[in-house]
Amino acid sequence: MTAFHYRDGALHAEGVSLTALAETVGTPFYCYASGAIEDAYNAMANALSGLPAMICYALKANGNLAVVRTLAKLGAGADVVSEGELRVALAAGIPADKIVFAGVGKTREEMAAGLRAGILQFNVESVPELEALSEVATSMGLRAPTALRVNPDVDALTHAKISTGRAENKFGIDLGHIQDTVKLALSLPGISLEGLAVHIGSQLTDLTPYGAAFERLSALYRDLHGQGVPLRRLDFGGGLGISYDGETPPDLAAYAALVRKHAAGLPAELVFEPGRFLVGNAGVLIARVLYVKQGAARRFLVLDAAMNDLIRPSMYDAYHAFKPVRAPAAGAVEMPVDIVGPICESADTFAKQRPLPPVEAGDLLAICSTGAYGAVMSSTYNCRRLAPEVLVRGEDHAIVRARPDYAAMLAGSPLPDWLKDGQVQPAKRGVA
Ligand code: LLP
Repeated sequence: MTAFHYRDGALHAEGVSLTALAETVGTPFYCYASGAIEDAYNAMANALSGLPAMICYALKANGNLAVVRTLAKLGAGADVVSEGELRVALAAGIPADKIVFAGVGKTREEMAAGLRAGILQFNVESVPELEALSEVATSMGLRAPTALRVNPDVDALTHAKISTGRAENKFGIDLGHIQDTVKLALSLPGISLEGLAVHIGSQLTDLTPYGAAFERLSALYRDLHGQGVPLRRLDFGGGLGISYDGETPPDLAAYAALVRKHAAGLPAELVFEPGRFLVGNAGVLIARVLYVKQGAARRFLVLDAAMNDLIRPSMYDAYHAFKPVRAPAAGAVEMPVDIVGPICESADTFAKQRPLPPVEAGDLLAICSTGAYGAVMSSTYNCRRLAPEVLVRGEDHAIVRARPDYAAMLAGSPLPDWLKDGQVQPAKRGVA
């Protein structure tokens, strides 16, 4: 979180005062620091330098066009999982031949969109999906560049809801079924089998599971290549963890050494799909304290941000650090508080019994490390408007997603004629 620092007693994003931003943009809002995104990308690119590697940013972590464009300008490719993400990646200037289309349930329309755009590859996760892709490609007179996503049955040692590499997970093709699936892929007229892919989970803080997965994947690649299957691409997925609560994220050099070890001697271009690592610590969610409420047993800070703005604590019991935007007085004593949103669910809780320096109603708080899986997972629950997003670069800032106005919100829900004032009610049709 080095992009966010105190200057003159107030938290800044690079050279921009978050207090001033809150005045102009209103709260809650997300703020991203370009420099932090660039540093993370460059660190990864440097660690992998010398390898035939392509870093395909996983848009699901943060699909804001300006964020994606920031990465596109550094040379990043994209990992997309929907036609929407494909369109954002292309609009951000990522060349189609650097785009990987992942996901366990692509529709035929999405396959056609990827084929029309001319993407690098589809990561296919099942036999029926492979057959559908072949049909769609054939109908367009094309062959779909395809990698098979392998399920290596490795425990990623991360939260169960973001673990994807075990046999019981819905993802990938089991190792035991791979040889048959390869044969099928080679026989289908619309498939050009070009690679293998793996992704075992997200927020990995230990390299051991990567080692196990990469070993299985590279052994399989070597074996198939030896059998004459013309593979040329190996996709090692994403999942690199970041520090939320003082965890030690995997050392990039050690990660790259692991990659080098397992890719050594393989005739393969390498693809990586990092999401969180590139943007997670580049963002904060700024909220205002509405009320300080003293309950019978606890003290609550009621914020104007809620679980609809940031669902990770409710959904994964995720930890996010909190920083007062006004620097705490020297020697301020921290007291435990529950930090909650205004939504009528107990799950609308960001933190329980979190030690914080004294905070008053009206104060601003930064919810840290929310650049990944923050805004993208937000909703309009309780008819709340989506929080705006601001991108900062040095002393500059720009609103890169505006807060919708209420008129737009209502205009999006037209009434049927029979519910409009002054309309005659149509007869109810019964079932004969
Ligand atoms: N590739 C594939 C095939 C994926 O499924 C994912 C994430 C990634 C790459 C990027 O993973 P990353 O580098 O960001 O860990 N909403 C959850 C995280 C869900 C991750 C889903 N897949 C959270 O807030 O923690």
